[in-house]
Amino acid sequence: MPEAIYQFPEGFLWGTATAAHQVEGHNTNNNWSAWEVEPGRIINGDKAGLACDWWNGRWEVDLQNAARDGQNAHRFSVEWSRVMPAPDRWDESALDQYRTMLKGMRRLGLTPVVTLHHFTDPLWIYEMGGWENEQTPIYFKKFVRKVVTAFKDEVKLWVTLNEPNGLVVNSYISGGFPPGKKDFKAAFRALKNLVRGHAAAYHAIHEIQPDAMASYALYYRGFFPKSNWSPLDALATRSLMGNVNEVFSNAIKDGQVKFALFKDFVREAVGSQDYVAIQYYSSDLVSFTPFNPGELFTRRRSPPGAEVSETGFIANVPDGMTQALKWARQFRKPIYITENGVDDSKDTLRPSYIAQHLHKVWQAANFNYQMKGYFHWSQVDNFEWERGWSQRFGLWGLNTQTQQRTRRRSADLYAAICKENGISLEAVRQFAPEVFEILFPS
Ligand code: GAL
Repeated sequence: MPEAIYQFPEGFLWGTATAAHQVEGHNTNNNWSAWEVEPGRIINGDKAGLACDWWNGRWEVDLQNAARDGQNAHRFSVEWSRVMPAPDRWDESALDQYRTMLKGMRRLGLTPVVTLHHFTDPLWIYEMGGWENEQTPIYFKKFVRKVVTAFKDEVKLWVTLNEPNGLVVNSYISGGFPPGKKDFKAAFRALKNLVRGHAAAYHAIHEIQPDAMASYALYYRGFFPKSNWSPLDALATRSLMGNVNEVFSNAIKDGQVKFALFKDFVREAVGSQDYVAIQYYSSDLVSFTPFNPGELFTRRRSPPGAEVSETGFIANVPDGMTQALKWARQFRKPIYITENGVDDSKDTLRPSYIAQHLHKVWQAANFNYQMKGYFHWSQVDNFEWERGWSQRFGLWGLNTQTQQRTRRRSADLYAAICKENGISLEAVRQFAPEVFEILFPS
């Protein structure tokens, strides 16, 4: 028996999350494969390439490690361009490959959570204008029907779209994702079609599998006003909450799609959510500035004192997790953390990051929030989109030349947590001593 433990609810799902393009390798028929060969798009000219070689079978290596380390679930995505290589063609062999993986997960005792869209579109969808085109949600629904029909006996938890709010910003405002636009009108068109696509997928899933649980996964950024007594900072914070965190969830609440100065209504989206999926990584301190209209007159910076990850991408702000969960609670639905993690090749910050964030999740569970699971991003280093291989998010490191995996200290910590279904004093003392006094003050 451990001396002291923050115990999680029974049946809690413990896993890691991955996405097809980031781990499979040899994805050559989607928009990212086209984007990666354009000069200057990806840091260091990196490409996903062989990635973690999952498509050749190395999924088994990583998921065996996951299961051995006490995980009982895994979230991964099905690549649309593999299953539907052309508008009028299915590739049954791709479905067979995913079926093999699903059966493998079951054998390993991992409950699968399946994402149906994780940032990538088939090339043929990209060429017809991607999510700006009104036909895209219709094609997406076709794909979803095919996948859900094939796997309804294996999968109960579905994620329709991964971070549609983040996707819109990255693809159409900041331009780091394909098609690399900086255009509010295009962003709004894509947002509306993503809402339609999600709703179509949600209803299709329930027609085929009435007891399924479906939702989209929300990118939640923590926002705190720089000054607690400045009404302008409060306004700036509110504006970011609305335009970043709530832009998609509002549409699911009442059908209103609003972004910048644009507005529309999608009736079929109302209530299309069975649980809340939160992806929380970091937070900003927000202040008002008249000089930054491109960012809605806001300036953001890392909260002072917060440790920042090695590429400066993530500030360690566990309070943001609490903010996210308080926000999520308004829906009165089960809550899953479908992503949370940090880029840290040397694994100096990750153990404390994990312990501190999970401590906040535990607190929420003990205030009777319906906390149902946590998926760390990620099991093994993988291709990080426009940041290529420059960021390392794995519990295990990956040598892309040799495909060799190297266990990090964080894997030990996370294994202890998963196995004990809780954060024990012993585990923190051993694997995250940096935050021992924070979690277990003497
Ligand atoms: C998320 C995304 C993941 C992963 C992660 C870390 O926004 O859903 O695919 O890349 O960020 O960068």
